[in-house]
Amino acid sequence: MPATSPDAQPRRVEIAPSILPADFSRLGDEIQSLERARADRIHWDVMDGVFVPNLTIGPDVVKSCRQLVDIVFEAHLMVEDPDLLAPLYVDAGCELVTIHVESTRHLDRTLNTIKDAGAKAGVTMNPGTPLESIDNVMHLVDMVLIMTVNPGFGGQAYIAAQERKIRRLRSEIIDRGLDVDIEVDGGISPSTIEAATRAGANVFVAGSAVFKDPEGLEHAIATLRSMAEAVA
Ligand code: DX5
Ligand code: ZN
Repeated sequence: MPATSPDAQPRRVEIAPSILPADFSRLGDEIQSLERARADRIHWDVMDGVFVPNLTIGPDVVKSCRQLVDIVFEAHLMVEDPDLLAPLYVDAGCELVTIHVESTRHLDRTLNTIKDAGAKAGVTMNPGTPLESIDNVMHLVDMVLIMTVNPGFGGQAYIAAQERKIRRLRSEIIDRGLDVDIEVDGGISPSTIEAATRAGANVFVAGSAVFKDPEGLEHAIATLRSMAEAVA
């Protein structure tokens, strides 16, 4: 395995805490704490109870937090109807919206809907979904999110077999000369972030590893960032 990312010019490492483990009774405070702890983005896990067996955050909740912080908001939509919902999360103040390839019949159209609404577009893949499913939309996206767990819940174990997909994707991005981030989501922690970085990821979602660090949010984020930067 190479000691560095296959990207000749390493991309900026970003840490995107998932809001899932936060105390929802004091969500505004939690968001402000993450900003003070130097998170790069807030990762809003949006679940509709149909695409995944869990129900989380509506666009009005995101909107009510928007004016509290300056940090980038990204919405990870795990929903059956992204065409209906994606523009609502753009209106709520998300600079980036990523949708699951498995959730839409008309992937090209859905990604263009997000861009037309004024946000960056991302495409997300479940662990069982082949890379080829996004081959024809790569020119439309700012980011590809490779799930390293099956979506629905925080605190699951990292699926290392996805590193092969990340590696192939990074090579493809370089070969085609595209400007695309690779984000990983699920089980990212100090034990897994180096391998994910080596494979070619540069944006890291972390829920449990950030909120459950006994030394606090700032320590957790700084640790993840320095481990990824050392590899990248
Ligand atoms: C899973 C979500 C993730 C997850 C991350 O469906 O998309 O963002 O909650 O949580 P951890 O880091 O605990 O795996
Ligand atoms: Zn997520």
